[in-house]
Amino acid sequence: MTFSPEAITQAAIDSFAAADNPRLKTIMQSLVKHLHAFAQETNLTEAEWMAGIQFLTATGHKCDDVRQEFILLSDTLGLSMLLVALHDGAQQGATEATVLGPFHTPDAPVLNNGADMTNGAPGEPLYVTGRVVSPDGKAVAHAMVDVWQADAEGLYDVQRGELHNERRARGLIQADKEGQFAFWTVLPEAYPVPTDGPVGQMLVNTGRHPWRPAHIHFMVKAEGYQPLITHIFREGDKYLNSDVVFGVRPSLVGKFQSHASGSAPDGREMKNSYWTLDYSFALQAG
Ligand SMILES: [Fe+2]
Repeated sequence: MTFSPEAITQAAIDSFAAADNPRLKTIMQSLVKHLHAFAQETNLTEAEWMAGIQFLTATGHKCDDVRQEFILLSDTLGLSMLLVALHDGAQQGATEATVLGPFHTPDAPVLNNGADMTNGAPGEPLYVTGRVVSPDGKAVAHAMVDVWQADAEGLYDVQRGELHNERRARGLIQADKEGQFAFWTVLPEAYPVPTDGPVGQMLVNTGRHPWRPAHIHFMVKAEGYQPLITHIFREGDKYLNSDVVFGVRPSLVGKFQSHASGSAPDGREMKNSYWTLDYSFALQAG
């Protein structure tokens, strides 16, 4: 047996040859191959790899029920968005997907179509309307529209410890039989991803900014269609071209329109200025 670098790599690849699960075998052998190529390409030292192990250890220690530092790592390395791009069906006319992100919760309050999900979140009022359709424009009846976002201070409800489990700027709305939905919320603002952990330190150490352009998250589901996980970004945001998690797609930039005080589209009397957004989602059959 020789101990050339190539022989070590080959031995590590071959060690998985007897794996029963063919997919697991493929993934592990490819992981070893590319991990070893990375070490070769960078001439990685043992001290550098130990720093890497300490970084991954700290990333794990930072995780808890509401904080997922590994998702943040995957997002900031572009891996999450790469997987979305690889598996997003290319059906013509369907709305494009983007990253889920770490702030979705499965317990969003169920609200009536047209309701206000603000619940005290700071920010200028925003009235969102839209339709859920198929790629050829036909109504998708009774789709569930799950919405979550940061407020004017760039924070999600789950990042505010003082709220305990209270939910705001978050809700689940069922579209009507024509696929139409509406809700009130607040205008989202750009926010930095959490920087108080090892991933934030990695961004600082590499001269990267931590900002995401302002957006609203949507997860849209309907019987007979593939679930859609996406965002609508705010047109004109200065971070649209440098999203720290690479999630922006031009088709997902929405027109947020400013209005003076007066009657909103649903008849609500607005004492101050407010915003509207209209965006329709096309789901792929599935
Ligand atoms: Fe977000």
